[in-house]
Amino acid sequence: MASSPSSPTILLLLLSATALFSLLTTPASAANRLNAGQSLGPGQSLAQGPYLFIMQPDCNLVLYDNIRAVWATGTNGRAFGCVLKMQTDGNLVIYSGSRVIWASNTSRQIGNYYLLLQRDRNVVIYDSANNAIWATGTNVGNTAVVVIPHSNGTAAASGAAQNKVKELHP
Ligand SMILES: *[C@@H]1O[C@H](CO)[C@@H](O)[C@H](O)[C@H]1NC(C)=O
Ligand SMILES: *[C@@H]1O[C@H](CO)[C@@H](O)[C@H](O)[C@H]1NC(C)=O
Repeated sequence: MASSPSSPTILLLLLSATALFSLLTTPASAANRLNAGQSLGPGQSLAQGPYLFIMQPDCNLVLYDNIRAVWATGTNGRAFGCVLKMQTDGNLVIYSGSRVIWASNTSRQIGNYYLLLQRDRNVVIYDSANNAIWATGTNVGNTAVVVIPHSNGTAAASGAAQNKVKELHP
């Protein structure tokens, strides 16, 4: 009995269609990156290996290393339905409606800023020129990464230090 020659062909076509569809629908940013103009709604997160940077439904913005919280805004219970927005002015802001719950206070001229959850566990805001303007300072393990933590939980990243904060992309 001759098998239908069309079955594998159809399967291949379906696979190509799926691949094409996923290409077309793939967001401009990877899952570890939030570009200016993009936001994380309640329960949404960035992920990188064992690290999770999540805008929790309780309004706390938390960085987890596996199940251990290593950094947080401490804004839990302040509101519900909070949204984290990476703004085009470089400011990273948690909003509840129009109310500001928390901000990185890094607003400046309009540009293509982006927030990156790095492989070294640091969460960094970069400007259009890929200079770090803010970081959680939670990096581990990589001697190429140097940040200067402040008492306010952020880390300075200016001058020569910026290049060391930057993740070494291929
Ligand atoms: C941002 O500025 C506000 C107002 O000065 C301040 O209350 C808040 O602590 C600052 N945010 C951070 C993350 O330092
Ligand atoms: C954190 O503190 C440092 C040193 O006082 C300051 O330069 C920096 O602007 C602060 N960061 C934020 C986000 O308030």
